Parts: sequence; structure tokens; C-alpha cells
Amino acid sequence: MSALSELYQEIARCQLCEIAKYRTKVVPGEGPEDAEIMFIGEAPGWHEDQQGRPFVGPAGQYLGQLLASIGLRREQVYIANVIKCRPTANRDPLPMEIQNCRRWLERQIEIIRPRMIVTLGRYSMAMFFPGKSISKIHGMAQKRDNVIYYPMYHPAAALHQQSLRQAIEADMLKIPALLAEAKSVPEAKPQPRQLSMFEE
Ligand code: URA
Repeated sequence: MSALSELYQEIARCQLCEIAKYRTKVVPGEGPEDAEIMFIGEAPGWHEDQQGRPFVGPAGQYLGQLLASIGLRREQVYIANVIKCRPTANRDPLPMEIQNCRRWLERQIEIIRPRMIVTLGRYSMAMFFPGKSISKIHGMAQKRDNVIYYPMYHPAAALHQQSLRQAIEADMLKIPALLAEAKSVPEAKPQPRQLSMFEE
């Protein structure tokens, strides 16, 4: 069994938060174990809770369009959330839920070792850029230990607000060059890799 499948089984057994009792399905995340780029959203919504898959509702459709704008299909990237269970009535995640769930995201990052981590929205941004404001730092890449961290607005917010929509679409277009730069450093991800996803 792959490391990710084992992790998904562990996540499915997790009952640390009250919301675990009310979920239809847990939403661990999905994508290839050797993905070069990882997108991290906030929390599952109604559609995700029904299907057990991240970003499958309206925000997910928009994320798919954004990926297509840079020549990517969602199957080529890893998609996860800060928390893996749907918060009751779609409320914001609680600090304790984020704290409890952090271990799973950390394990996903350890297994996948992406070259680039894109945070979608402020909860995901706060894990990597604590204390920062998304309106100030969206679209600004930061390299740490050969991994590029890149904050973006959340697609659900951008869907309904024209100014954010322009920003998220412009920020997305910067990703191919950033990823190419991240991959130009050979030791960041030592495993043999397939053709670059932007060259296919
Ligand atoms: N919003 C998120 O942050 N994550 C999802 O999976 C769906 C909507």
C-alpha cells in the first residue's frame, strides 16, 4: 500500500474533533504522490463532505478553470485542505480543529515533498505565513529550503468578487515560471521524475 493510502486510512480513523462525528465522508486530499505542486484550501464544504474529495463544488470548478489557464489538469497536482472534516454549517475552522488536523497536512507534505506549495485563502496562508495579511502578500512567492510557498486568494472568495477574481487569475499565471525556477534546483526533490508537467 502506498504511503498516502496508509495515511488516508489513519485520517479516516481520526476522531479528535467533534465535527468528525457529523461528517458524511472525511476529505483527506487527492493527487499523485510525486506531485510537484500542492494546493491547500481551507476545509471541505457540503459537496466535498458528500464525495470525500476536495474542491468538487463550485469553488472546485473554478479551481479547475484556473489550473487549465496554466495548462494543468487537477489530476496532475495535489489538492488538500487545512482541515479534513466539514465544519458544521460551513462555519470557519476553529483554532483547535486546525491544531488537531495539522499533523495530517504535515505528513502529506513529508510524503509528497512538493517543489511548490500554493495556499488558497487565509487559513491555509496562516500556516506558512503567520501574522500576514492576504491582501498584502498574495502573489508573492517565498522560497524556504528549496520549496516555494505562494499565497493566493481562495477561489470561493474570488468567484463572487471581481477585484479578487482579477487578482487570483493574475497570480495563477505566475505559477509556471515559479515552478520552473523551483525545479531548477536539483537537490530539492531527488527522486527520478517524469517529464515536467509544463512540457507535456
Ligand atoms: N473550499 C475549500 O477550502 N476546500 C474545499 O475542498 C472546497 C471548498
